[in-house]
Parts: sequence; structure tokens; C-alpha cells
Amino acid sequence: MVSEIRLFTEIAYLEKAQSYQSVLSLRGVEVKLVQIEKLNARFLRLNPEIALCVDENGLWLCANGMKMQPDWNAEIARLKRASIKSEMIARACNLAEKPKLIDATAGLGHDSLLMAHLGAEITLVERHPILFTLLEDSKTQAETDPFLSQIVARIHLVFSDSHAFLALQNQEQHHFDVVYLDPMFPQRDQNQQAIKKQAQVKKQMQLLHLLLPEDGEMDLGDHLLVLAQAIAKRVVVKRPRLAVFLNNQQPDHQWQGDACRFDAYFN
Ligand SMILES: C[S@@+](CC[C@H](N)C(=O)[O-])C[C@H]1O[C@@H](n2cnc3c(N)ncnc32)[C@H](O)[C@@H]1O
Repeated sequence: MVSEIRLFTEIAYLEKAQSYQSVLSLRGVEVKLVQIEKLNARFLRLNPEIALCVDENGLWLCANGMKMQPDWNAEIARLKRASIKSEMIARACNLAEKPKLIDATAGLGHDSLLMAHLGAEITLVERHPILFTLLEDSKTQAETDPFLSQIVARIHLVFSDSHAFLALQNQEQHHFDVVYLDPMFPQRDQNQQAIKKQAQVKKQMQLLHLLLPEDGEMDLGDHLLVLAQAIAKRVVVKRPRLAVFLNNQQPDHQWQGDACRFDAYFN
């Protein structure tokens, strides 16, 4: 987990950057503010280490000359094309029934944005303080967009580790229709073949992999499956097409796509 990180910004966004600094500090991330003259592609190329930056579009994660934020606006065209019939995730999560759903591995929130658009009521859980803050920023921006605002009204963000969150739901006897899991998978292991088959792991995923620990430290999410099964009628796990089953548990049903598949466990 990142405990100290630099945040680059121009003078015009210094105040905004300071407010992100305070929020991140409350979430356990020490941010060193660095005021720079021009936050442009050249600057990012010359400063390839992982860092944050703030500009007119809010908070970004940057590394290797690239910058990334969940950017829910960029998803609008895809959302407008999507339908319950055309989306495999919609069949896997039974979105036609407008389920009460927990997405326990939020990441950039793109899967949840699509599921909320197709009718699900979503509790979106992310444990990484920087990713959570990026998500929160995306949600706040989306609330001002006429199309996205109706969708994000069905998304509730929770900053927590899902092991604790799911266990608490069970303890309090809260039940859900679906728990959706899309844990990280290592770039170099049994899933390598699956990744290689994609033309390029998306830029956003590359940056996610830089931010989240790998090499033995990576939590593959195996324990989440059992916790999820205790509180939901259906657990859906997104996996690379050729990856092993989560927790080595054989699913009851599978939906196979070109790059990924959905494994479903029914109660
Ligand atoms: C592959 S990404 C999910 C991508 C997401 N489906 C999307 O559409 O953007 C996995 C995310 O799950 C988060 N995660 C993994 N284990 C978690 C846990 N136990 N609790 C909360 N978040 C977790 C990671 O921090 C990471 O952001």
C-alpha cells in the first residue's frame, strides 16, 4: 500500500490539491504537494515514478508518462449502447431483476457504472485509499452530468476492506441478491496466457497494477467468495478467460467471453 506519494499541481489548482491532500491524509496516505510550472505530457514523461496530479479535471494517478482517473464521462457512449440483452454481465448478474448488489472489488467502478445503468442498486466497496478517492471524485463529477447523475444515484461508495464489510453484513443479517467480485490477478502467473491474448492490457489496468502490490503480496480474493456466499443468493466472479477458479471452487454456471468470463455461484 502506498503510504507517501507526491502530488503535482500548478498554482491555479493548489487549493484544490490541498483539499485532496487532507482527504488522503485522513485515509492514511501522506501526500507531498509539489507545485510545478506546467503539468503537461513532457513533465509526465520526465517524472515517470508513480504520483498523483491535480488539474481542472480533478485528481489523477500518473506514472510512466501516462495519467489515469476512472473517467466515468468517457463511459457514456458505451453505456448508451448497452442493454440487458447485449451485455454478458447483465445475464450473469440477472440485472433484469434490478438486484440489490454489492461490488466488493470496485477498482475504477466501470463494471458497476454499467450495472447501475442497467438497473442494479449498488454498494461499491474499495479498500485502496487512493483508488477510493479517485472513485469518490468521479462520482461527484458524475452527479453534475444530466445522463450520469441518474445512474450514480444508484451507486453508494464504501471505503472498506470487503472481508470486513461482507462479514459485517452477515453479522447484521443483511442479505443481497448478488455479490460481484473482480479481484486483481497477477500479470505473471497462470493467467499470463489470458493477458497475452488481449491486444494490450488497458492503460488504466497497467496503472492499477503499478499501484497495487504484486509478487506474493497480492491478495487474490479467494476468501471473499465464501464471505459473499454467506449473504447473497448469487455470487458472480469476473475472471480472465483462462484463469483458474476463484478459491479453486467450481462455479454452478459460466458465461464465456473473448477476454473474460463470468463464473456464477448460486445459493
Ligand atoms: C480488477 S480491479 C476491479 C475493476 C473493476 N471491476 C472495474 O470495473 O473497474 C480490483 C479492485 O478490487 C480492489 N480490492 C481487492 N480486494 C479487495 C478487498 N478485499 N476489499 C476491497 N477492495 C478490494 C482492489 O484494490 C482493486 O481496486
